[in-house]
This record gives sequence, C-alpha cells and structure tokens, in this order.
Amino acid sequence: MPKVALVTGGNRGIGLGITRRLLTDGYAVAILATRDEPTELLDELRGAGPDGAPAQVLYVQGSVAELADHDRYVTAALEAWGRIDLLVNNAGVAPSVRADLLEAGAESFDRVLGINLRGPYFLTQRVANAMIAQRDASGEDLSANESPVGTIVNVSSISATTVSTNRGEYCVSKAGVSMGTQLFAARLAPEGIVVYEVRPGVIATDMTAGVTEKYDKLLADGLAPNPRWGRPSDVAGAVAILASGQTPYSTGEVFHVDGGMHIPRL
Ligand SMILES: NC(=O)c1ccc[n+]([C@@H]2O[C@H](COP(=O)([O-])OP(=O)(O)OC[C@H]3O[C@@H](n4cnc5c(N)ncnc54)[C@H](OP(=O)(O)O)[C@@H]3O)[C@@H](O)[C@H]2O)c1
Repeated sequence: MPKVALVTGGNRGIGLGITRRLLTDGYAVAILATRDEPTELLDELRGAGPDGAPAQVLYVQGSVAELADHDRYVTAALEAWGRIDLLVNNAGVAPSVRADLLEAGAESFDRVLGINLRGPYFLTQRVANAMIAQRDASGEDLSANESPVGTIVNVSSISATTVSTNRGEYCVSKAGVSMGTQLFAARLAPEGIVVYEVRPGVIATDMTAGVTEKYDKLLADGLAPNPRWGRPSDVAGAVAILASGQTPYSTGEVFHVDGGMHIPRL
C-alpha cells in the first residue's frame, strides 16, 4: 500500500517538481488544480514511480479557494486509496498586476488571500480531521508510535518576512501561511501530526517567468549567497525530507530553500 500525498497545484512549477519527487519516492499523489485534466502529463507521471515503475496519480479539477472543491478532492483521494499521509499546500498565485501599496485594490487582495491563505487554511483543517479519523480507525497506540501519523507542508515564500511594496497582498498572504503553520503545528502535535513551512526564495517557474531579467540581475548582484536560480526540484527535496518521518519531534519549523537569501548580511 503506497503512502498517499495531496499536492495542490501539483501539475506545474514547484508543485510538479514535488509531485515527481513524491512519485519517485513511492507515494500515490492526488493533484488539485484549476486547468483541464493534463492527459499527456498524467500518462507520463503514471510511468514515473520508483525506478520507472508504474505510479498512481489522480487529478481533481477545482480551486483551492472553493471549500466545496476541498470535499471533492479529499473524497477522491480517500475513495481511491483509503488514506492520506501527506498534504502539501503548494498552489498559489501572485497578484495579476503589481500595484503600489497606496493604490492596490481590494479585488486583488481578496483573490490572492482566498487562494494563498484562506484556501490552504481550511484545506488543512479538512485534511487534519481526515488524518485524525484515519488514526482513530487504525486503533494504533499513538503513545507507542514514534512516526508522525500525518504530515502537512505549507509552501510559503521569502515574502512571508521580506516586504515588496508593489505586491503587499502576496506578502500578507504568505505571512499568514507562516502563522497558519505555527497554529496548526501547535494544535496538531498532540494528535501525532507534524506541520512544516517550506519557504522558497526565487524559483524558476511560470510565476517568475515574467521577471526573469530582473532576478537575473539581482542574483548577479548578490541577492542570495548562492547566485543561481532555485529549481522546483530544490523545493521538492525539502518536502521529501520533511515528509520522510525522520523528524517526528520537530514541528512548526521553517525550512528555507533560497540559496541563503534569508541570512542577514553586511
Ligand atoms: N516561483 C517562485 O519564485 C516562488 C517563490 C516563493 C514561493 N513560491 C510559491 O510556490 C508555490 C508554487 O508557485 P510556482 O512558482 O510553482 O507557481 P506557478 O508556476 O504559477 O504554479 C502555480 C500552481 O498553483 C496552481 N493554482 C493556482 N491557483 C489555484 C487555485 N485557485 N486552485 C488550485 N490550484 C491553483 C496552478 O494550477 P493551474 O495550472 O490550474 O493554474 C499551478 O499548478 C506558490 O504558493 C508560490 O507562492 C514561488
């Protein structure tokens, strides 16, 4: 029986990197994303298990901002595999237009907060309850169990603590994800569920494709001690480590994937 992971936005960018890594590690993966089912990609992923063995992938079309879609998503995974071991809250958006803090509108604020914060907050609540029910149904003695009964990983951003005054709603949403991580980590620790925040810096994906030149220059000028762009596989490696069950006495941790960008330097 494979371990089961939910990866929101697991069809593109960082999320696709996470999906690929988890499939290689032997997980079954359920993806939630808004686009039509990507049949070619799913065919490819179904051959991307450990050492090229077949893999189990399920795609649910829906929005993380819609609580009704959470139910369809969780139910689809439970019907297919009967359990959930890992939730990766990865799906996220940048503001459609970068606007100064003194001009940006409420519509963009509501959209970004709805997808980046409200959505994962309530999906975490939904999945945590499913994990607790699954633990209770298993009849396992939690006190004797050294491994977490479930893991939740939130993909935040360097923007959780670094201001960009032309995309305030994004920064606020990611700071909220950071607090959400600590809240759920504290509430879920006695339930045997660990919660982590993975905090990427600048990663080459569709999200950053429009600002490549800007970040090429910033990286060349020393934005991060490691001067290269991050890759989805860099973030996926962090998720794989945190989901491995090797750190059961750690929760609420922030794992930076930013080439050292967060280190204060003189
Ligand atoms: N790239 C970076 O430099 C960077 C840095 C720090 C943090 N991050 C964070 O990392 C995460 C992934 O970013 P990325 O760079 O991989 O972005 P991306 O390439 O733009 O991909 C975004 C993913 O999120 C999904 N998504 C967007 N809105 C959704 C919704 N309402 N419901 C469900 N899925 C939705 C997209 O699915 P569709 O295909 O259906 O649109 C897509 O799979 C985001 O949370 C982002 O804030 C990125």
